[in-house]
Amino acid sequence: MKEVTLQDVKFELKRGNIASQDDIAAVVNAANASLSGGGGVDGALHRAAGPELKKASQPMGPIRPGEAVITPGFNLPNDYVIHCLGPVYGKDQPEDELLANCYKNALKLAEEKGISSIAFPAISCGAFGYPVEDAAKIAIKTIKNEGPKLSVVKLIRFVLFGEEAMEIHEEVMEEMF
Ligand code: AR6
Repeated sequence: MKEVTLQDVKFELKRGNIASQDDIAAVVNAANASLSGGGGVDGALHRAAGPELKKASQPMGPIRPGEAVITPGFNLPNDYVIHCLGPVYGKDQPEDELLANCYKNALKLAEEKGISSIAFPAISCGAFGYPVEDAAKIAIKTIKNEGPKLSVVKLIRFVLFGEEAMEIHEEVMEEMF
């Protein structure tokens, strides 16, 4: 299962690069606390956005796990980047709540800013070590709960980098809907 509709919100899974989502208003960054750029998703977004992104994000740091802040997208094809700090698996507790807060807070910012489409990477599933299946269950459950409450956001996309992550998310979506 690759997509589902929650009231009038489309929720879809797509394989790809978070820095190449041309049809999306806001992309979510799997940031670090200092909002100064890093590897993985963070590196891809900062490279594509250009140095202005760091100049805009860094003064907003440090942020805590579960928090989200918003900047323009600069050279990205997106109007905005929403920077979230996911929990480090096995360290930041309670990690399930903190991970869910990333998705909730990013959606809250999107609603406040009038953003109609948003793309998320698999927050915490790379350098931060969250097992993909556990993270997928939390992420998809949070969208299932929050989606029907949204009035501005009409498209939520999860962008999965690898085939395995894509398959796991498809299975979890199947189980939950
Ligand atoms: N597009 C989509 N997904 C990607 C991409 C991409 N370009 N690159 C990696 N992934 P990670 P985290 C996947 O490490 O675990 C940074 O250094 C990846 O396979 O980007 O939250 C920050 O500065 C994995 O499934 O984020 C922080 O210090 C998922 O995206 C730290 O890493 C998240 O991997 C954040 O770690």
